[in-house]
Amino acid sequence: MADATRENWGTRLGFILAAVGSAVGLGNIWRFPGVAYENGGGAFLVPYLVALLTAGIPLLIMEFTIGRKYRASAPLAWRKLSKGAEFIGWWQTIIASVIAVYYAAIVAWAAWYTWFSIDQSWGSADETGGFLFDFLGADMATGLFDFSGYSQQVLWGMVAVWLIVGVVIVAGVRKGIERFNKIFMPLLIVMFGVMVVQALTLEGAATGLNAFFTPEWSELSNADVWIAAYGQIFFSLSIGFGIMITYASYLKKKNDITTSALTVGFANSSFELLAGIGVFSVLGFMAVQSGTPVDEQVSSGVGLAFVAFPAIINQLPFAPALFGILFFLSLTFAGLTSLISIVQVPAAAIKDRFGVSQKAAAGVVWAVLAVISVSLFSANNGLFMLDSTDAYINAFGIAGAGFTSILVVFWIVRKWPVIVENANSSSTFQLVKRRKDLWFGALGVVTVLILGVTLYQSVQA
Ligand code: PFF
Repeated sequence: MADATRENWGTRLGFILAAVGSAVGLGNIWRFPGVAYENGGGAFLVPYLVALLTAGIPLLIMEFTIGRKYRASAPLAWRKLSKGAEFIGWWQTIIASVIAVYYAAIVAWAAWYTWFSIDQSWGSADETGGFLFDFLGADMATGLFDFSGYSQQVLWGMVAVWLIVGVVIVAGVRKGIERFNKIFMPLLIVMFGVMVVQALTLEGAATGLNAFFTPEWSELSNADVWIAAYGQIFFSLSIGFGIMITYASYLKKKNDITTSALTVGFANSSFELLAGIGVFSVLGFMAVQSGTPVDEQVSSGVGLAFVAFPAIINQLPFAPALFGILFFLSLTFAGLTSLISIVQVPAAAIKDRFGVSQKAAAGVVWAVLAVISVSLFSANNGLFMLDSTDAYINAFGIAGAGFTSILVVFWIVRKWPVIVENANSSSTFQLVKRRKDLWFGALGVVTVLILGVTLYQSVQA
């Protein structure tokens, strides 16, 4: 039954900006450089590109098609595809909700660090770690496992982040999500571009870039490197969590799928490479200053963005405040546009399940997630919980839900021809139809095998 109250994107550009806004997030700026470096530097780019072409873009096409064809949130769309598949959508909805709860915390930290950048409040280079602990309300003496302390700063930061998210999703798809992305995505790209240019002018930038781009070919025979590349593509492109199904459900039938998927896939990876170039130029500068080789400074995630970067910003030869503001504000904006897309998954699911309005569903989902998020992650054990949630998301989210959804479409209910048909129904660029053998091989064989192995390994571990 058609849902007459369902919104549409105002323009195709609006949809693309929102999808790129979802894809470009914390995963691009702080996860990618570290993961790439740990997995063979330049040689990682080969598995990474293979993952983009065999899993990223084909799955984006699949999720866009499912969303546009069934015009429904993840659970309802899967149910329309096949009755027994509804559980995949709920699984994705739960994973998205878990991600939202911790993602918001990091966005709040990034927002505060934008403010700290103005006078580098984090102190001297060897004080940045201690500063982060204090900021998080953690007691160095008792360690991270003390559940009693709260950080007022984190608390209010998170409240502010959730208020922004609430205003945007309650306003709806066109007036909220589309409008927000149309303002903040161009801004993000300009700011980030300026930051990377500033990074490239630093003495030692070439040293860092060498470390990043020098291939270690022997790593190519390492299965873990391949698994890391597929994991990065899933995380970075927001696929496998119902996010892209949800966003595509607001497309019009005439909107093109394959060109959108290619645009979003390549835009996201370009941004990611740019982030790698920026981060490694900065690490190279630091290596030249301190004599510590680049590879001893790289850590992904929290350490890189909130400990190493502030220490480096202190020593920049010119405009350290500007650099800090550009970096952390980019992280904040990139994170916000992604967080909004993640929260829209449960909001849309509840709307469809209970037949209420977007406003009501978004309001309820927002309130529940915001309260859980703020109360869990403004406590000082947030840092520890972040690590374990991340591992859990990789195992049960990326490998589990991704694997199951492809298995169901290609091998169990075998509805993949329906997707081939619909991916092309309006496409000027009949890519999937003409090369359905390639599309089938990429997802139905290669990706499913790699995800199967990943899943097997994480269950064993
Ligand atoms: N793709 C976004 C990022 O790279 O940060 C948002 C995101 C989606 C993060 C899904 C994590 C995730 F599991």
